[in-house]
Amino acid sequence: MAEKVGQTAPGWATVRAQFRLDPDWIHLGAFLLASHPRTVRVAIERFRRRLDAMPVRTVHDEWPRYEAAVLRAAAEYLRADAADIALTDSTSMGLALLYNGIDLRPGQEALATRHDFFVTRDRLRARAIQAGASYREISLYEEQREQISEEAIVERLLAAVTERTRILALTWVHSSTGVKLPIRAIAGRLREFNAGRAERDRVLLCVDGVHGLGVEDVTMADLGCDFFVAGCHKWLFGPRGTGLVWGRPEAWRYASPTIPSFTDVGTPGSAGTPGGYHSFEHRWALAEGFKFQRWIGKARVAARTHALNSRLKAGLAGMSHVKLYTPRAERVSAGIICFDVRGLTPPEVVERLRAKRIIATATPYVPSYARVSASILNTPAEIDTALRAIRTLA
Ligand SMILES: Cc1ncc(COP(=O)(O)O)c(C=O)c1O
Repeated sequence: MAEKVGQTAPGWATVRAQFRLDPDWIHLGAFLLASHPRTVRVAIERFRRRLDAMPVRTVHDEWPRYEAAVLRAAAEYLRADAADIALTDSTSMGLALLYNGIDLRPGQEALATRHDFFVTRDRLRARAIQAGASYREISLYEEQREQISEEAIVERLLAAVTERTRILALTWVHSSTGVKLPIRAIAGRLREFNAGRAERDRVLLCVDGVHGLGVEDVTMADLGCDFFVAGCHKWLFGPRGTGLVWGRPEAWRYASPTIPSFTDVGTPGSAGTPGGYHSFEHRWALAEGFKFQRWIGKARVAARTHALNSRLKAGLAGMSHVKLYTPRAERVSAGIICFDVRGLTPPEVVERLRAKRIIATATPYVPSYARVSASILNTPAEIDTALRAIRTLA
């Protein structure tokens, strides 16, 4: 653990050594909830000591400074403007606050997909009803999706958008299937669709990006969406209980805060940051989460995550008792892999792997699949061990 942020890029064993994960297990579910790397743990402890000693003075005197440091680190990582970032406690909080306060008028429509997380679907449906607008869900691809095409997804989506569509809610990487959407291409086509329409009628593209953040080497400008919502306590390995909402400055005009901010300094992001006192030691330590990623390097994180998951998918694809639901192409997948084992339910697969000290999950969607996911914490050898274990489930 000699390296510190700012020094030369670390090797993967050094990256893994930053975590206190139980080494007797193979963790193929790290995306669900982060283990804290060393620099995050140290920062949390430092802030905790300060808060325990002087809670009121720390909050009154230091809150703006520490929050600004988090926003700076987030902005550098996202290549965005710190003024456009709101801080939240989770993806779910960000999604619910965004959709609760978003501009949606009678007669307009909110469009989501059946692949989205239930918080998006439930909150947006409720918001539409409340606004006198309508809510619709579409499917972007069928069950058999090994040969999924980005072009087909874009065409199907654009065919569903109408003059009434005001909100388009999408999930970058589906936790139900592992499919990754071509957000940039969709944003490009929406820009054409929106051209010439009054600003308050344009389609706002809102993305749940949690399973792309900390995986893909992209910036907010690359994605081209209007709002990007994510937790920072999954792939990013930031403190548990942290998240963000980024919005284009013009788009923020159409999202009013649900919980009034305590730290509004006149920027859209600060106004959109829900007020109240927080678990500050976690929130302020988030700066270290972003620095940790940049220490390793965004491009290296993306390449490693894809390489490990490609190895896993290649192995699964070669097993006759396994059906792989996630496409193998990196353009349409990221770090989540969904599959079935013939003759076993997803919870049974999870249980059998757990008996071999391998952490997998079953998706909380219909249909449910077994799910494994390699992250920068895993090694090729662990992937091969997991594949051997899955092979024995025949
Ligand atoms: C696509 C997606 N969005 C949101 C969430 C919830 O994230 P959070 O725990 O940050 O609220 C999950 C899973 O936990 C998810 O799979």
